[in-house]
Amino acid sequence: MADSPRVVAVCGSRREGSYTRAALQYALAGAADAGAEAELLNLGDPGLDLPLYHPGHDPEETGDVAAALERVRTADGVVVGSPVYHGSYSSTFRSFHDWCSFDEYDDTAVGLLATAGGGTFSSTLDHMRVTVRGVHGWVIPHQVGVRNASSQFVDRTETTDGDGVDAAYVFDDESLRDRTERLGREVTTAATRLFGEE
Ligand SMILES: Cc1cc2nc3c(=O)[nH]c(=O)nc-3n(C[C@H](O)[C@H](O)[C@H](O)COP(=O)(O)O)c2cc1C
Repeated sequence: MADSPRVVAVCGSRREGSYTRAALQYALAGAADAGAEAELLNLGDPGLDLPLYHPGHDPEETGDVAAALERVRTADGVVVGSPVYHGSYSSTFRSFHDWCSFDEYDDTAVGLLATAGGGTFSSTLDHMRVTVRGVHGWVIPHQVGVRNASSQFVDRTETTDGDGVDAAYVFDDESLRDRTERLGREVTTAATRLFGEE
C-alpha cells in the first residue's frame, strides 16, 4: 500500500443522473475523510468501452477493460454500488465483475451499496456479498441500502447542500448520508488495518 490507501467506487448503473452514483459520491467523501485517495469508476460512463464479458476474449484487447481492471486491482479498498434489478444486481455490475478475478480483489477491503426503486434491497446486497467473496474480496459488515431512491435525493440544483458532490442528486436524508459516508470511512480503515504496512 502507498502512503495513502486508494479507494475506488464502482458504479453499476448506466443511468444518466444515477442515484447509485450519487450515493457513491458520499462513500468517496467518507473515504477521503479517512485519508484515502478516492475515485469513481463509473461503468456507465459513455466514454468507457466495456463490452459484455466474454470468456474467449482477452481483456488486454477488449476496449477499456484492462484499464478499468487495473483501477480495481491497484485499489486497497473498493465500494461497489448497484441498482436493484429484479431483486438482484444490474447486468452492468455483473458483466464487469465477471471480468474481475482474484487478481483484482485479493487483499482488498470491499463495501456494498444498493439503491432500490421500491422497498427491498437485501437480496441485492446478499448477492453482491456472495459474488465479491467469490473473487476473494474482504467484504466489511457495514453496508448501505437505499429504498425508495427517488424520494431520498433532491436535485443538486435545488439545494445549497452537497457542495463538492459531483452528481446530479444529493441526499435529502441525513441518516442515509451519514451511513454512506461511514461506508467509505470503514472501507478505508479496514484496508489500512488488513493490508497496510506493519
Ligand atoms: C430492469 C430494472 C429492474 C428493476 N427491478 C427493481 C426491483 O426488483 N426492485 C426495486 O425496488 N426496484 C427495481 N428497479 C428500480 C431501480 O432499482 C431504481 O430505479 C434504482 O434507484 C435505479 O438506480 P440508478 O438511478 O442508480 O440507476 C428496477 C429498475 C430497472 C431498470
